[in-house]
Amino acid sequence: MAPNKLKKTTFLLNWYANPYHTPIFVAKKRGFYEEEGIDLAIMETTNPSDVTEIVGSGAADMGLKAMIHILAAKDRGINITSMGALLDEPPTGLIFKKSLGITKFTDIVGKRVGYIGHFGKVMIDDLAKQAGLSPDSYTTVRVGMNVTDAILRGDIDTGIGFTNFQRLELEELSGEPAGMLRIDECNGLGCCCFCSVMFVASDNYFNKNKDTVAAFMRATRRAMDIVIEYPEAAWEDMCIMNPRLRSTKRMVDVEVEVEGKKIKTKVETGSNVYEKIYQRTLPYFSRTLLNVERDWDKDIFYRRAKEVGFRARSAFKLMQLDDQFNLFQNVERAVDLCAAPGSWSQVLSRKLYHNRPIPNVESNSAAEQIRVVSVDLQEMAPIPGVALIQGDITSTKTAEQIISYFHGQKAEIVVCDGAPDVTGVHDIDEYVQSELLLAAMNITTFVLAPGGSFVAKIFRCKHYEFLAAQLNIFFDEVTCAKPQSSRASSNEHFVVCRGFKLPPGYKPVMTSPLLSMYGQPEEMKRDPVLISFLACGDLSCYDEDQ
Ligand SMILES: C[S@@+](CC[C@H](N)C(=O)[O-])C[C@H]1O[C@@H](n2cnc3c(N)ncnc32)[C@H](O)[C@@H]1O
Repeated sequence: MAPNKLKKTTFLLNWYANPYHTPIFVAKKRGFYEEEGIDLAIMETTNPSDVTEIVGSGAADMGLKAMIHILAAKDRGINITSMGALLDEPPTGLIFKKSLGITKFTDIVGKRVGYIGHFGKVMIDDLAKQAGLSPDSYTTVRVGMNVTDAILRGDIDTGIGFTNFQRLELEELSGEPAGMLRIDECNGLGCCCFCSVMFVASDNYFNKNKDTVAAFMRATRRAMDIVIEYPEAAWEDMCIMNPRLRSTKRMVDVEVEVEGKKIKTKVETGSNVYEKIYQRTLPYFSRTLLNVERDWDKDIFYRRAKEVGFRARSAFKLMQLDDQFNLFQNVERAVDLCAAPGSWSQVLSRKLYHNRPIPNVESNSAAEQIRVVSVDLQEMAPIPGVALIQGDITSTKTAEQIISYFHGQKAEIVVCDGAPDVTGVHDIDEYVQSELLLAAMNITTFVLAPGGSFVAKIFRCKHYEFLAAQLNIFFDEVTCAKPQSSRASSNEHFVVCRGFKLPPGYKPVMTSPLLSMYGQPEEMKRDPVLISFLACGDLSCYDEDQ
């Protein structure tokens, strides 16, 4: 519910409205700012160099600007504060048609180099100085926002742009491959954090309007979650708000002459360049809106997770298990135990709401079916359509809360990637992990529908056979699997249990010593159960070996 009186707030974009502004327009279109009490007036700039001054002077309340320009503005005495990032480190550099033959920075000799505003010139001259070039060996040309156009018109040979924007635009509009020399590489910096596009306000506005700033960031963050989880729906919102961005691609009938004969055929016309820019921008949207630090040494699954917007690399483990076991067929409701930061919940949300309406989790009305409920001791950031419970999986109250979100119905699958805090003492850690698995099994007996599936992390340890035997009591089929994305060095595995059934006379309990009365039968102690083992994902190797 929007508050009665909205606070008019002005917001100055750093560029004309373009695909990387989608989260702001999604929040505007969906009324998220209004729900936070803000009537946001979104304004475009005609000169990006003006933004820090306009925002710094208080003429606009908030705005967007790249980190490097914010630092430069502060250096010039403009008092602005950045509140977070819209884009994380989009690679930036000199773009050009590949046919120009530029392969290194010194190739700018004899060329016309375009820049957007004064600071761009400083950057080019500085790089040239570092490369030992004399200032008169190349020409700099101020082109403002028209870098691509200036290259296409032949006014400049190369100019500064984003890989996900101007480089792609050049490629699409010229029909030729475009190249780029990354500024960070020319400078030996190792990352493009200085190009991150940040939310800014003047120090004065920020200090006097902290509630409004927080409300603005909350609403934008909500929209960012939608962009990341449902990029197509978000893009449609963006095009409704900015129709000129919509793809004009279509097939038209034409008549052509082939060997003297007229034949009718179809040809493609128009352009979907903005849609492509949007798709190319998705990996750079800041999931948290915080200016997080980057660790470039993280592994291949970490990078891939970032590219597709997952909060953690673990997402791939669940997806690979699904590829192998077809986990979500006929699944209407799912529970994610020990879910934070939420990458498994993201996978569940994407699977279970595919082509289905996403309910408003807050209202929890029976008409709008919630399909995913996630539990963790830690607070989690929202995920569209996922009801979040901050709670303990060993508590009966948590089981009741889960079922109330499902309006009395049970789930067809429960997944658990739970891990306790490690102590470093191997035996204790293994023991506590086993306890957590049994706790997950206990709560599962409350919330899983007969015939349902249970997928949980398990360590191949000395309790393993015992745990597997316990699970066998509750399921028709128990398999142990190792997804390729699970590190080879870890003894982490996953049990995939199908065909849930409560043993006769068993009453779900949370408090008794875990499943003890259904413990290992005598004969199993002599002849342990055999649990089939499957590796899943591409079998070429496990993660660590890549
Ligand atoms: C490895 S993380 C889960 C990662 C998650 N699957 C993902 O993809 O983002 C393990 C989580 O187990 C949670 N956890 C441990 N014990 C718990 C308990 N008793 N109840 C709820 N959550 C618990 C921790 O808080 C931690 O967030």
